[in-house]
Amino acid sequence: MQRRPRRNRKSQAIRNMVEETRLSVKDFIFPMFLIDGINQKIEVASMPGIYRYSLDLMLKEIEECVNLGIMAFDIFPAYPESKKDKYATESHNQETFYLKAIHKIKTIFPEVVVMTDVAMDPYSSDGHDGLVENGKILNDETLEILGKMSLAQAQAGADILGPSDMMDGRVGFIRDILDENGFTDVSIMSYTAKYASAFYGPFRDALDSAPKSGDKKTYQMDAANYYEALVEADLDTEEGADFLMVKPALAYLDVIRLLKDNSNLPIAAYNVSGEYAMIKASAEKGWLDGERAMLESLLSIKRAGANVILSYFAKEFALITKD
Ligand code: PBG
Repeated sequence: MQRRPRRNRKSQAIRNMVEETRLSVKDFIFPMFLIDGINQKIEVASMPGIYRYSLDLMLKEIEECVNLGIMAFDIFPAYPESKKDKYATESHNQETFYLKAIHKIKTIFPEVVVMTDVAMDPYSSDGHDGLVENGKILNDETLEILGKMSLAQAQAGADILGPSDMMDGRVGFIRDILDENGFTDVSIMSYTAKYASAFYGPFRDALDSAPKSGDKKTYQMDAANYYEALVEADLDTEEGADFLMVKPALAYLDVIRLLKDNSNLPIAAYNVSGEYAMIKASAEKGWLDGERAMLESLLSIKRAGANVILSYFAKEFALITKD
């Protein structure tokens, strides 16, 4: 035998040398859930180890994460039903707790990257990402609301806006509004290929944001489609996106690779709530080794081509790998 590939696997030191993919804490954005109030820390039932925090406790959590090397956070607000309406008005109320919290986080941790979510669902009484009229999700009318929301988030100090609703033309619309108002430095991480997925279930529990009727299939992508992700990627690129995201991650590793091979922009992948819940639930049952399953999944996302990984495992990864 001339070739014996096993020679390069014979010891941990050799395996370390030939390792093609290496995860670093710098790869991660940690998504976190914010609620109004003080001294609140409520675990999300379907996401063990993940909490909804009031701002005071979120600041402590961010400090702990920063000490572990995590430098980027994506903050999602959970609003009570009483604050929701058809037009997601609360999303651009300057006094709303979410915008005040973004400002506070950036004031206390100016070096940290704060990403915000641009979509109507946390504020919508219909639980949809767009304006609902006679059972239809209106596109262009939704853009107007997204524009106001984006401007308010930029004014609060967000570094990266994450339009997550899959409305057509949103990236260009938001880019224009930001630029017209002097926010040329605020970045856009577009949810480019966001699929209509069952894996968002635990997130909708965390935010109480499930649609009141219908589903999200007229705006989010069909799981069957691959090349369609390139149509979205081309548009987001033309419209000025700084990052392209694929979501969910694990069932769409092929799409991550597709965008990586066809774009020069950094590619992000969102390791979503359901992907977190699956590993946690089976580890709790003793059915698999949760830590190894986590590391293997995160590695696969990076190997597929993701430069940036949004994951609820970010802190756990940082804790395990710190020296
Ligand atoms: C909605 C939004 C969702 C997620 C992020 N932003 C859910 C949805 O589209 O219904 C899901 C994140 C996750 O599951 O972790 N704008």
